[in-house]
Amino acid sequence: MPTWVIILLTVMGILIVCKLLFAFSLVSVFPITQGAMFHPSARVRVRTFLDHVPMKAGELLIDIGCGDGRVLRAAKRRYGVRALGFEVNPLAYALARLRTIGMEGIEVRLRNFWNVDIGDADVVFCYLFPDVMGRLAQKLVRELRPGTRVISCNFPLPGWRHSELLYPESSLHADPIYLYQIPADSGC
Ligand SMILES: C[S@@+](CC[C@H](N)C(=O)[O-])C[C@H]1O[C@@H](n2cnc3c(N)ncnc32)[C@H](O)[C@@H]1O
Repeated sequence: MPTWVIILLTVMGILIVCKLLFAFSLVSVFPITQGAMFHPSARVRVRTFLDHVPMKAGELLIDIGCGDGRVLRAAKRRYGVRALGFEVNPLAYALARLRTIGMEGIEVRLRNFWNVDIGDADVVFCYLFPDVMGRLAQKLVRELRPGTRVISCNFPLPGWRHSELLYPESSLHADPIYLYQIPADSGC
């Protein structure tokens, strides 16, 4: 068999294995994620969020469902926050761990965020799915302190009044980003 055929078959084999791994990682956690699959935010969307949500060094940003950790890394670089991410998809978790190696102040945990109290957060970031937003709203009201900022990509928290609505300047990635702040009476 000619060498180029062997190389082609090897590359194709690697690509197929990667695709299978990706598909398996999505399916294996579907009962937990309920449609909030591993789909990293576009960089322009992360930039837009950071431009409009200034944070103080040392504040705690939590990305519930942190994917490959890009939001954690960008916020850490821009504002010097402490950044914590939860992730259940093993492939996304592995990527996030790899990409944050050597970055102090960033922690990524292989955890289902529904089972974790996030009350220490100063800022909570999420990019999930409409099916879970109602339940998430209840968890946030229960656990977050007044003044905590909540950012939800693409999907609103039902019944909550946003303080700002952002549309990234990009024809491809212009879906809304909702900004909220937990009020003193937690009525949202
Ligand atoms: C649309 S992606 C967003 C990733 C990242 N936040 C970003 O903006 O780039 C949603 C991520 O949330 C994770 N996820 C969904 N439900 C979760 C849960 N209950 N606990 C932990 N991670 C979860 C998924 O595995 C997926 O990687």
